[in-house]
Amino acid sequence: MKTDIKDIVEIQESISAGEEISINLPKYKKYTICNLRGGIGKTTLAFNLSYLARNVLAVDTCAQGNLSYFYDNNYFTNASTNVKDMILPYIVPGLGKPTRVACRISATNQFFDDNSYYIPSSDELYILPSQLATALNQANNVQSPTKEQIVENILLSLRKETDREMQETGCSKCLIDTSPFFSGATHLAWHASDALIIPVRTDQQSINSLNLLLKTLKDPSSDFRRNMSYLTPNLKTPKIQMIILTHCTWSTQKNAKNKPNQQTKVYIEKVKDIVNRNITSFTTDNPDNHIFLLDDFLGTGRISSALSKPVLLLQQGESMRINKVKTTVNASVEKCKNQLRHISNALW
Ligand SMILES: Nc1ncnc2c1ncn2[C@@H]1O[C@H](COP(=O)(O)OP(=O)(O)O)[C@@H](O)[C@H]1O
Ligand SMILES: [Mg+2]
Repeated sequence: MKTDIKDIVEIQESISAGEEISINLPKYKKYTICNLRGGIGKTTLAFNLSYLARNVLAVDTCAQGNLSYFYDNNYFTNASTNVKDMILPYIVPGLGKPTRVACRISATNQFFDDNSYYIPSSDELYILPSQLATALNQANNVQSPTKEQIVENILLSLRKETDREMQETGCSKCLIDTSPFFSGATHLAWHASDALIIPVRTDQQSINSLNLLLKTLKDPSSDFRRNMSYLTPNLKTPKIQMIILTHCTWSTQKNAKNKPNQQTKVYIEKVKDIVNRNITSFTTDNPDNHIFLLDDFLGTGRISSALSKPVLLLQQGESMRINKVKTTVNASVEKCKNQLRHISNALW
């Protein structure tokens, strides 16, 4: 039987037209944006959703630091403490725990004017996976129940630290951006968040990554589940709140406004098939609740990145030269804004 995507496409038409559609999803405080693949829009989403969320603590756990760069082009020299400083004391005994690591975004990004903060990344996150694996292996040699306590303390490090930072800054929401790899900070981010947001680009490699992610989430022998074999009540598996199909393109045929083109259609079907088969990993039991679409940003995205300016603040027709190429905010910018607002409304 062919997968029915009629409802998803219909809702999309209303969203594009600016109608407010309510989606019946539970609301959480802390989300991790992840998929085990790079270049699919994780950081772009984190940046734009953090702007819409307001009063949010954004956490950059990717060693590349692209999200930190959006908030402060000089974060590398400006930030005195970073996300690695928060995690390391849980792995290397004897190190002091830092406090007040978060930086106020409005201090370095002129487009933010609210009480939002971010935790800067560190390029030392590249070696965190091996440090974390060593610490967990060492803990496994210790007698129970100390072993369980040590493992729990390590795995909940980012949760405890982000909770503390939220309290110190008065932020009521938390959004964690991740690298394309599971080991290390992403592992800790899964334990730190209540639910996951998974961007999937309209290509087969992203579908493969989604399947790998689901396997990591569910398979008892995976790197994630293996460390929870002696499950303590505090260690939970996060559920998936939404899959966001990014880089969607639409039919160019006359009168076919907001109809997905063949490529987009095929990937909506593939994603819905996967959601159907894995529905117990999601926050509700209705697959249609969990699939969101985001257009290809085109020139809008390039200008947003070049200026570190949220898409929500760009207007159609604005243009600038990027690497000597004239780039313009496309007519589709209003649709992208409506899609981003819809995604944000389904989170908080
Ligand atoms: N919806 C989108 N449409 C078009 N380009 C996008 C979109 N989202 C992200 N991009 C672009 O794709 C590239 C990778 O995006 P990024 O958010 O850094 O991905 P990730 O964090 O998953 O590696 C960037 O050049 C970004 O500007
Ligand atoms: Mg990224």
